Amino acid sequence: MITKAVIPAAGRGTRAGARHIPKEMYPVGDNQYPIIQYVVEELIHSGIDDILIITRTGKRVIEDHFSQPPEDLARLIEENNITFFYTNQDEPKGLGHAVLLARKYMGNSPFILALGDDIVKSETPCARQLIDLYNFYRGPVIAVEEVPEERVSRYGIISPEKIREGVYFINDLIEKPAQEDAPSSLAVVGRYALTSEIFDILADTKPGINNEIQLTDALQVLCKRRAMYAIEYEGQRFDAGDRDGRIEAEKVFNSL
Ligand code: UTP
Repeated sequence: MITKAVIPAAGRGTRAGARHIPKEMYPVGDNQYPIIQYVVEELIHSGIDDILIITRTGKRVIEDHFSQPPEDLARLIEENNITFFYTNQDEPKGLGHAVLLARKYMGNSPFILALGDDIVKSETPCARQLIDLYNFYRGPVIAVEEVPEERVSRYGIISPEKIREGVYFINDLIEKPAQEDAPSSLAVVGRYALTSEIFDILADTKPGINNEIQLTDALQVLCKRRAMYAIEYEGQRFDAGDRDGRIEAEKVFNSL
C-alpha cells in the first residue's frame, strides 16, 4: 500500500521571476490557492496520509500555509488525518539529492514523488492512477505524456514497450535527448510511484548535468535492475513553474 508521498519544493526557481516568493506559492485558479496546495489535494484524494515537503530556508511560507490552511483544506486535512513533515535542502544539489533526503521518512515503504510545480487536472487524481498501476504490477511507475517531437529535448524520454493501451514497460530512459536520438515522444512528467531501492541508487549517483544529482540518472539504473512501468495518465498537466503554464492552469482549476 502506498500511503506516503514526498513533494520536493526546494528548487531555485530560476524560471520564476519573484526570487523571494517560492514559485510553489504562486496563486492559481478560482480561489487563488497556491500551486502546491493543488498537489497536496491530489495526494490526499489519492489516499496518501503522510506528506513530506522538501523546502529550503526562505520557503517557510510553504510550511506556514499548511499549518494555517484555508478552511476547506483544513477540513480535508482533518477528515483524512493527514500529517505533514518538512525537511530542508539548503544546497541546490538537484532533484535526485532532494529525493534522497526523503530516505529517512520513507524507510522501506513505496512512495509517491510529486513535483511541487506540476499540477494535473483529471477525473481520477493522477497519483491515484499511478498507485493503482503500482498495486497491479508491484513495480515502480512513472507518469508520461506524449509531447510534440520538437520538444523532446526538454524532457526525460522513455524507450517504451507497449503492454496495453496507455501502459508501457520501460526499456530505458534518456534525459533531454536530441530530437533525432529520442526513442519515443513519451516524456516523463512530475509524478512517480517509487520503491525504496531508488535511495541506494541515488546515494551512488554522481552529479550530472549542472553538477546536480539527477533523478533521471538514478531511474535509468533502476529500470535496468527491475521491471519499471510508465502510464500515459488521464488528465491535463500544467507546468505551473512557468508563466504560460500558470496562465493555462488559471483557466481550468477550481479547488477542492
Ligand atoms: P525544476 O527542474 O523546475 O528546477 O525542479 P527549479 O530549480 O525548481 O526551477 P527552474 O527550472 O530553475 O526554474 C523540479 C522540482 O524539483 C524541485 C523543485 O522545487 C521543483 O519542484 N527541486 C529541484 C528541488 O527540490 N531541489 C533541487 O535541488 C532541484
